[in-house]
Amino acid sequence: MVKQDTDTYHHSGQYQPWRALIASETCREVETMSPNPTDQRLARHDAPLVTFNPGIIDETLSLPIDEAVAVLCDSGPLDQVPGYNGSYERELLAKAHATLDAALRYHDEAALHQIHRALFLLYDLHVADAGSPRSEHQFDPLLTRLRREIERRWLDTETSRFAHVPRPADSDELVAALKRLWSEHPASCHPLFDFLEKEASKEQIIAFFTSDSALNIRFFDLLLFSMVGSRIEVRKELAQNFWDESGRGEPARSHVTLFRRLLDSVGVGQAVDNHAATLDWQGLAGYNLFMLTALNRRHYFKLLGILAMTELLDPPQYEKLARGCRRVGLGTANELEYYDEHVTIDVVHGEGWLMNVIVPIVEQTPSASADILVGARLRLQSCAGYYDALYAKLNALR
Ligand SMILES: [Fe+2]
Ligand SMILES: [Fe+2]
Repeated sequence: MVKQDTDTYHHSGQYQPWRALIASETCREVETMSPNPTDQRLARHDAPLVTFNPGIIDETLSLPIDEAVAVLCDSGPLDQVPGYNGSYERELLAKAHATLDAALRYHDEAALHQIHRALFLLYDLHVADAGSPRSEHQFDPLLTRLRREIERRWLDTETSRFAHVPRPADSDELVAALKRLWSEHPASCHPLFDFLEKEASKEQIIAFFTSDSALNIRFFDLLLFSMVGSRIEVRKELAQNFWDESGRGEPARSHVTLFRRLLDSVGVGQAVDNHAATLDWQGLAGYNLFMLTALNRRHYFKLLGILAMTELLDPPQYEKLARGCRRVGLGTANELEYYDEHVTIDVVHGEGWLMNVIVPIVEQTPSASADILVGARLRLQSCAGYYDALYAKLNALR
């Protein structure tokens, strides 16, 4: 395992940045922990911080941007690094922009994965366990700037993919527009779910569960983010969603617990990154879209649109999935409760979210409807891309 000198950093107040460990040794040791170093690096979120010699800073500039971010997130106090706010910052941002060009202009798949993995790691700093050394970097200025640069260009690219639509005149028109968007979008009737219902093998269905893990397990926090800074009038509905998500007073019935139980029952088990390392860039992008809008106050109304689409999308899709699961022999030991619960409860949540969250907000602030619609369209767009990629991936497992 990786050697540590974390006491020096955490408790003495006399941290000597370049004294302790040699980063190249650390990286080599980490890579030997797993046959797949990428998986291991996504998975080691709660590993103690490692310190490094100054040379590591130059080394990160020769790494892909996601690998550089992974090293920085796992490092000691970054503001003590020579050049951190000068030449190093310029070069790291230039690398990020070059990767963004390849990803967003030229649709380079490897660059798209690097960008979304980097964002995933940067977002993870904001939901890290308080005991995790990574929490030290939550508001690191360079990591924050890097995140904002990636977010800005990614969001510009995504919003440029759909045409401008006139703003609805009132809340009734907005609700009708949201329902129309959902029912007419290819994501709402994607063949992936017909495949899961009628054709997929047990192994393919289990691969779907694995792919669903990171977002399903993070959903508790996402609902909480929707409650932060919320209008008083909508809190009853938000609290009801949160109460249902957390098991209505029974920890064993919390949705995270139900989903983790499913993963255990089918042999997938648990991972510290909730299996995010298995995601391709479309899966990471879907997750990142939630985190982008949850963590940036100015995108709060987009988050509400994203969550509205999520509640509308899930019930019919999960109904097909649950039928497919039973077709291959799953469900005899109540292991499908996570999906069964969402089939019924998200019908209530979907309508409640529209009438008791979106309507009151738009009646108070009519201009919010534009961002709510943008969020809804972003979610449908990212879902469609994710479903396409996952459908192809599951088919390749045949
Ligand atoms: Fe849930
Ligand atoms: Fe829900």
